[in-house]
Amino acid sequence: MIEAKLLGRNAIGVDVNPEAINLSNDNLNFTIQTNSKIFTRQGNARDISFVKDNSINMICTHPPYADIIKYSENIPEDISHLHYEEFLLAMKDVATEANRVLKKNAICAFMIGDIREKGYIRPLGMETMNIFLEAGFKIKEIIIKEQHNCRSTEYWQKKRKKFLMLAHEYIFVLEKEGKKFS
Ligand SMILES: C[S@@+](CC[C@H](N)C(=O)[O-])C[C@H]1O[C@@H](n2cnc3c(N)ncnc32)[C@H](O)[C@@H]1O
Repeated sequence: MIEAKLLGRNAIGVDVNPEAINLSNDNLNFTIQTNSKIFTRQGNARDISFVKDNSINMICTHPPYADIIKYSENIPEDISHLHYEEFLLAMKDVATEANRVLKKNAICAFMIGDIREKGYIRPLGMETMNIFLEAGFKIKEIIIKEQHNCRSTEYWQKKRKKFLMLAHEYIFVLEKEGKKFS
């Protein structure tokens, strides 16, 4: 949202948690000489019916990684309460809504990582990407974000050792299908 404002683009920021909305509003409280319209709104990414079909140029999002970090206590629509399979089902709704609101050939970029359970990797990132492909997207880029030796490493080490063992996450850059290939 900050980058959208700096670039003079119109943007709608959606989060299910009012605390996230308040935090964003605080961060967006700066003046810049552009005429963009910047809105934040508490809402459920599984149903953004307040956004028209084929109206958005780009989606940029960062969902929870299933339930490895819970972002709220008592918000039933918060998908960070959902374990792996239920989370993937929820992401089908998110992907369908993302596809509905985007213009043809517009971009949906999201960051997500895998998770480790009982010593084995569960490929949450790739499985979520596949859900978006099934919803009508094509892959433009898969970007690997390395995250070892980070400033936050010590924090996570104290909080949840398992988190440390994931040394990368993904940024998927997907395009809504629209081009006709011969
Ligand atoms: C990984 S954080 C990303 C936060 C922020 N957008 C950022 O990139 O810094 C995941 C966010 O997803 C939000 N969230 C969880 N379930 C949601 C839902 N159903 N609809 C919209 N946002 C949701 C959480 O409240 C949390 O703020």
